[in-house]
Formats: sequence, C-alpha cells, structure tokens
Amino acid sequence: MPIATACANIALVKYWGKRDSALNLPARGSLSLTLDALRTHTEIELVDAPADSLEIDGARQHGRSLERASRFLDLVRAGAAPELARRRARVISATTFPIAAGLASSASGFAALAVAAAAAYRRPLDPHALSVLARRGSGSAARSIFGGFVRMHAGVRADGLDAAAAPLDGVALELAAAIALAGEGEKEVGSTEGMDVTARTSPYFGAWLDTVDRDLDAAERALRGGDIEALAAIVEGSCLAMHASALAARPGILYFKAVTLWAIDRVRALRQSGVPVMFTIDAGPHLVALAPPSVIDRVAAALGEHPDVARVITSHAGEGAHLVEAMPERA
Ligand code: PMV
Repeated sequence: MPIATACANIALVKYWGKRDSALNLPARGSLSLTLDALRTHTEIELVDAPADSLEIDGARQHGRSLERASRFLDLVRAGAAPELARRRARVISATTFPIAAGLASSASGFAALAVAAAAAYRRPLDPHALSVLARRGSGSAARSIFGGFVRMHAGVRADGLDAAAAPLDGVALELAAAIALAGEGEKEVGSTEGMDVTARTSPYFGAWLDTVDRDLDAAERALRGGDIEALAAIVEGSCLAMHASALAARPGILYFKAVTLWAIDRVRALRQSGVPVMFTIDAGPHLVALAPPSVIDRVAAALGEHPDVARVITSHAGEGAHLVEAMPERA
C-alpha cells in the first residue's frame, strides 16, 4: 500500500486564470514556496469494489470532493495495465493543518494523491510527468511536486504536456512563512469559480495577466540576487493585482476581511521598522507573511496581536512530494 506525503505551497507570483478549463491549463506561469508545516499524507489501497472511497482526517467524503478525487484517479487508471485499471482505490488522507479554516488543501492533497496513485497503479512517472498529472487536480498542486522555490510554466501545447512546474535553482534567499488564520465565516468563492468569473467579467483581467510574465522574471532575479526588498515589491504587487482583478469582477469577489487589511498594515509597519517581511494572500482571508527564518517568530507574534487572528502557523520551506513508509500517528 503506497503512502505519499506532499506539502502545500504559497504563491509569490500568483496563478489566477486558465487558458483551458478541461485540461486545467493556466493562462500564465506562477512562482511559489513549498511549505513544510502544511502537509498531507495519503495512503492508497487497491480494492475490488464498485467505487472509489475517500477519507480525509477520519471523515468519509461524499459528493464533490469524492467525485473530484475519483475523476483524478481515472486519469491514472487510463494509463495502467488492464488488471490494475479495473480496481478501485480506497484513499485515506491525513492533513497537518485545519482544512475547515479554509486553508488551501488542494495543492498538497492532489500532489500526494498523484504520487500515491502513480505508485498504486504502477505508473512510473518522473517528477515532470507527476507535475503535469497533479495539475489536472488543481493548478497549484503541480507546484507541490517540488520543494523550495518552484516555478510553474504555463506551456504552449494544446495537450498541456508542457504545463508543469520545475524547481528554481540558484536561489540566494531563505524564507519562512507565518500564516495568520482569520475568519472561519461564510464559505469563500472557490478558486476555479473565482478565476472564471474574473476572466469573464472583470475589466482588469487582461491588465492583471499582463503583469505576470514580467513579475515572474523579476522575482527570479530578486531570488537569485538575494534582493528581499525587490522581492517584496513584486510579491505584494502580484497579490494585490490579482485581488484587484477579482474585486472588479461582476459581481465583485472580495476575499479580504477587516482583519486581513489590518494584517497588511501590520506587515508594512514591521517593514518600516526594519524587519524584512512581505505579505501575500490567496483566495481567502488569511494573510501569509514571508520573511527570513531568523525573524519569522517575531512576525508571527505581531500578526497574533489581533483578536480576530485565531492562530498563526509558522512554516519553513518544505520538500517535494514523495513516497514514505508510514502514515503519521493520529494526534
Ligand atoms: O490550485 P487552485 O486551482 O486552487 O488555484 C490557486 C489559486 C491561488 O491560490 C489564489 C493562487 C496560487 O497561485 O496559488
């Protein structure tokens, strides 16, 4: 029974918009840091059953999340030997972070599922092919196949075989993350729906896309040159441009809560006082601060000052997805 582990990641240059929905091809590239503290372990057993089953953190899944996993497993089975392809999968996942809080779990989830399913159905896929596969589950999952700083390439092929991530080499900066968990209120607009509404209705969607390639190259340069100030300007600019395009959609998509805005101010005040720190925010209210490991606890303490910040999770850079011997002990 293969068991895989994968970490989530946080995008420094965001992915927001698809060039093909069926194959889940991104309109542009993106750049991320894999995060050790946000991790999924996934175990797969092949069974002679009529359907796949999925359990996440002890809860049996039905409906959309099971369907999504099952459709993904079909992609793996499509290339498997007939006697294996006939068999269904019993999938058990455990995460180290609160899924209910709305932290993106699809990146680590589909990266771990890709690695475990490829092993279970005996498909020897190299990291590039695993990244292409993981992308079919979720765009950000393609990046979680790799550790550290990772660049996702949009590719140009219609079949998407060049739309995959690759690790960035020669990086001269080490960054850790402090994630301010905020607001567990109403459900946010999911990333696929948010991208779709933005692409169809936002007058700023084209302008947002025009920022991405330039930001990707500039971010790579800043990472290789160890220029944290330059990187901060790019990371915050990419995040705010992505959110600006979503805000201008009809109806407007607003992921920030009041505490998110407070946290942006807090990060900027820290930076003014000399702490090398920057923020980014995904499709939700949680701010992620990025800073060198030596100051991350100080940043986390500052973000924890607000009563609406339920918890701050700190994380170092994580490794790429891989097979492991055992599932973690249940907490
Ligand atoms: O991987 P998806 O389809 O959930 O999209 C991720 C979208 C953002 O998290 C907002 C940005 C990103 O690049 O991760």
